[in-house]
Amino acid sequence: MKMKVRGVLITNPSNPLGATIQRETLEEIFDFITSKNIHLVSDEIYSGSVFSSTEFISIAEVLNARNYKGAKRVHIVYNLSKDLGLPGFRVGTIYSYNDKVVTTARRMSSFTLVSSQTQNLLASMLSDNEFTENYIRTNRERLRRRYEMTIEGLRRAGIECLKGNAGLFCWMNLSPFLDKNTREGELALWNTMVHEVKLNISPGSSSHCSEPGWFRMFFANMSEQTLEGAMKKMREDEEEERAEGEEEEDDHRAMKKKMRGQRREEDERAEA
Ligand SMILES: Cc1ncc(COP(=O)(O)O)c(C=O)c1O
Repeated sequence: MKMKVRGVLITNPSNPLGATIQRETLEEIFDFITSKNIHLVSDEIYSGSVFSSTEFISIAEVLNARNYKGAKRVHIVYNLSKDLGLPGFRVGTIYSYNDKVVTTARRMSSFTLVSSQTQNLLASMLSDNEFTENYIRTNRERLRRRYEMTIEGLRRAGIECLKGNAGLFCWMNLSPFLDKNTREGELALWNTMVHEVKLNISPGSSSHCSEPGWFRMFFANMSEQTLEGAMKKMREDEEEERAEGEEEEDDHRAMKKKMRGQRREEDERAEA
């Protein structure tokens, strides 16, 4: 298929990985789009939900370090759905270094105007420095606590997680629980989890993950008590599965012993 690629879209911090993109990688991406003469859209919707604050680098910082050379091809998008938990407000921004893009976006915004009541509420909320600073700090602390609780709970259930530092979810590896190491195997496990364990965790294939068995788990949209319950359920399931495995192994060993005994008896009879 012949396709003319116009741009690269990145999500930093990443959804579904829940991790920020390193400065060197951003530089490489910027060099790539510059060499190909195409655009870069950086979706930084989770930038306020980084729970180790020093680790987030915006593409704007890369441009700044390069004196804004080539900046006209870079556009940053953001909205209040994640960091402020306000998806229903439908408020977003485009921060572009390209006048044509800004002018077009401004003209198009007349088709999706934000109500004056919403603007009024947000203006008074966001101009309150004490409130915003406290909100961001508390949000980060709570996310970090939830993240640590989640990965520790999963670790105790024998489930490995990708190290994350942002967002509302973590990326975990359930491949040891797959019957078949394929996309179908992953979807079968997802189906079992939804219907039997009653946990809905997004399969990696829905995010185009090439390795079967990875899942994205949200930890921020439920109470701490529910999260504890979910962790307990996963641990119990894992323990049950391990116990079944051990039982099967015991049966297997007993069977082998019996067969050895029978063979010995037959040999003795043959010798006699
Ligand atoms: C990376 C990213 N960008 C944009 C959006 C869109 O947010 P909304 O549907 O609130 O406009 C989402 C929502 O899941 C997202 O994860």
